[in-house]
This record gives sequence, structure tokens and C-alpha cells, in this order.
Amino acid sequence: PVEVFDLVIFGGTGDLARRKILPGLYLRWLAGQIPAEARIIGAARGELDDQGFRDFVAASIEEFVARDRKDKAAIKGFLERLHYVAIDVTGEKGWKDLKALGREGAVQAFYFSVAPALFGAIAERLRSYEIAGAEARIVVEKPFGRDLASARALNATLAQHFEEGQIYRIDHYLGKETVQNLMAVRFANILFEPLWKSEYIDHVQITVAETVGVEGRGAYYDKSGAMRDMVQNHIMQLLCLIAMEPPYHFDPDAVRDEKLKVIRALDPVKPEDIVRGQYLAGAGEGSYLEHSGNKDSRTESYIALKVHISNWRWKGTPFYLRTGKRLRARESEIAITFREPPHSIFDDHSGWRENVLVIRLQPDEGMNLKVMIKEPGPGGMRLTQVPLDMSFAEALANTMEDVPDAYERLIMDVIRGNQTLFMRGDEVEAAWAWTDPIIQGWEARGDRPQGYDPGTSGPEDALMLMHRDGRRWRGIG
Ligand code: BG6
Repeated sequence: PVEVFDLVIFGGTGDLARRKILPGLYLRWLAGQIPAEARIIGAARGELDDQGFRDFVAASIEEFVARDRKDKAAIKGFLERLHYVAIDVTGEKGWKDLKALGREGAVQAFYFSVAPALFGAIAERLRSYEIAGAEARIVVEKPFGRDLASARALNATLAQHFEEGQIYRIDHYLGKETVQNLMAVRFANILFEPLWKSEYIDHVQITVAETVGVEGRGAYYDKSGAMRDMVQNHIMQLLCLIAMEPPYHFDPDAVRDEKLKVIRALDPVKPEDIVRGQYLAGAGEGSYLEHSGNKDSRTESYIALKVHISNWRWKGTPFYLRTGKRLRARESEIAITFREPPHSIFDDHSGWRENVLVIRLQPDEGMNLKVMIKEPGPGGMRLTQVPLDMSFAEALANTMEDVPDAYERLIMDVIRGNQTLFMRGDEVEAAWAWTDPIIQGWEARGDRPQGYDPGTSGPEDALMLMHRDGRRWRGIG
């Protein structure tokens, strides 16, 4: 179990709390990781009492926890850990009640599961009401700003009240099991790292494909788009973990220092290296324009880009990134394509294909390494490619079931005081500093995204992005 804690969730009755945070905490309780003295305190505008909040959480567990993980006794025990404070985060109501709940000897954590515009008001009151102690931790969600200026302003506001070491900026991709596995694969094997550079790697593809559209969150999404919603944060984090130099230790600042260097080494992206798309109507569903409620929207629900990292390791190895909604399959993977051997000793080289290391993030987490062998049989020395395929679920049959979801892991890391899997303020700012001119570029040119049919792998032009370099995207679905 972790230490005894008091976790206050601002926005405790909001969507993220209902879908992710509270069911996640229940599952950690079920796993025996949360001590009986811990308290989880919902704080929101609604006039609930403890019982009302417990009913709300019981319903969220009912809806979002898998049937075989619902245990009556465990749910009852978990609900007893819950409390509620009706609070006005921009006013004065409720803050004294929250203070009255304070106690000695428990780790204090405050989860800001609210719009970023409210971060400042909450941070300030946690201090002025003397609620947050010197060791208190705060957790903030994305979107962390919408450009460099707003991210800087947010960082500055938080910094008025809390030290960087107390601020946990969540990027839930960093809590995904396979994303962390990237570091284990790279730095716990001698096999890959010596080859992990442009001399041996032809290119890298990162794909985060989704089948869902933006129904229901069109208002937020339309101001954001795939670049801000996925690339600036989640995909950037994946890119960093693939591209970074080995940190000297698996330690928060050592890891984050190395990630920061990668972001700073990113070249500006040329307009011709970007393809933006917007899904059309189809398969019985409305178009992006209908879902977003903005008939003139120029916001992209798909983006593909070619990115260069200007440093010794990566000069000459492009990273192709793509993500989109309403695509053929929900599939996220990183594919590392190696170069051709310098010289072939075989007369018949026709069966030769590049070695590819594919790291599957979801679904069916695992790794697949494509290697060349001799084609079986007496037909002479012909080459063929076979996969060395490892599904983590198969290989780790007994342990995978209890693998915590990203949120479960990250919230427990907050209680443990481990910032390794959270973004530091300078990292977020550097990512915006790279993103801003790209977005400003297409806004200034008035670019419109290209329509694409749902259930496909995105706009046609995205294919060209690779074809013209003599390369191909891997298939989706
Ligand atoms: C969120 C984005 O951060 O990540 C969503 O706002 C996106 O638009 C989601 O759908 C994807 O997360 P996951 O874990 O389902 O890959």
C-alpha cells in the first residue's frame, strides 16, 4: 500500500472523475494499494452530501468498471473512504469546510479536474485558506494551455503558489504500460540501443488512430484540433521516449532533462510536410462539421507530419507522425524501420525487406520484430521475412490482468511523490514553442483541411507525404 493520503478532487462530479479518476481509485483499492485510513474528497459546485457523492461514485463504478472487478464488499469499503465538500472555486463558499477536514500525517494531494481557467483561483485559495501544506501536491490535466503564451501564464500562476516539485502535470499516455515499456526496451537490453541512431534507422512512424469522432466534445475540440489535442502532448511524449539519450538514472529530472533536449532539437516543420484532414459524413454518422457544430470549421481531426530532430543521433532520420479520429481502427503503434545491410552476399536478394521493430501500444500491447531468414525448402538460398511476435498478454498471461490503467498508475505515483511520468513546466513550454509556428503558419495561409471518408486511413495527401520519400505508411486495421 501507499502512504495514508487525502486526495481532494476539484471537479469531483465531472466527466473525467466519473469515467477515469474514481473508477481508477476503486481498482487500486481493490488491489489493496490504498490504505484504509485514506480519504478521497470530492469538491464541486453541486449541493451534495457525503452520501450523495457516494451514490454518484457507486454509479460510476457500476458503469465504468469491468464486471469481474466489481466486488460488493470492496465497493462498500471504498465508498466509506469518500467525502464531499460543496465548494465555489472562484468564490469563498466551502473553503472553510475543506480546511476543517485537514489532518496531520496524511499525504495531501489536490487534483484540479477542472478547466484551466480555474487553476489560478484554486491554487490561490489552497494557500490563502492555509489548506495546502508545504509538501502538498497538485495534479493538473491537459489542455495545459493552447499556445506558448497561455502555457507560460499557467505555469507562472501555479508557480506563485507551488514549487515545481509539487506540480504533477498529467499526460495519461505516460501512464500507459507499453509507453513505459519503451524505456525498458531501450535501456534494459543491449540489443537495440547500439543500433538506435540514424546510421541504422531509416525512419520512425508513430500512429495514434482512433475510430471515435468528436461527438459530444465538439465545442472543446473545435478550438483545439488534432495538433493541440494529441501531437503537442501525447505524440510528443512518445517521440521523446524514442528519441531521447539514455538518462543517467530513472529519476524524474534525469528523464525529463533528456526529453526536453529532444523537444528543443526539433526542427520547424515545413508546410509541405504537414497534411491536415477533417472527416466527412459516412457509415451512418455525421461529418466533423456537424459534430463540431461549426459549419465553417477549419479545425483538423487528422494530422500527419514529417519531423526532423537536429542532433547527432537523429540527423537524417525522419519521424513521421499521424493521428486522427474516425479512422479504420483504434490502433496505436510505433514502428522503427532499420536500414538495408551495407552489402548483400546473396545472389537472390529479391525477398529482402527492411527490419522493422513495431511497438504496439493499443490494443494488444506487444512488440514485433521483423527479421530475415532463409525461405524454407530445397529451393536454394532465398530470403523471406518472418515476425518475432510477442504479445505481452500472452507472454505474461498471469500478470497482465492486473495491469493498472494509465490513470490508476499516475494517481498512485502522485501519492508516492514520483514525478518521473509527469511533464515538467519547461517541457510543456518547449512543446508549445515548437507547435505554435506550425499552427500560426496554417492559420496565416488560411489552409483548409482535406476531407476524408470515415473508416479509412485518412486523407489521400497523407500517403504522398511518405511516397515522395520512397516510403510507405504501415496499414491501419
Ligand atoms: C485525449 C484526447 O487526451 O486522449 C482525446 O483529448 C483522445 O481526443 C484521447 O481521444 C485518446 O486517449 P486513449 O487513451 O484512448 O488513446
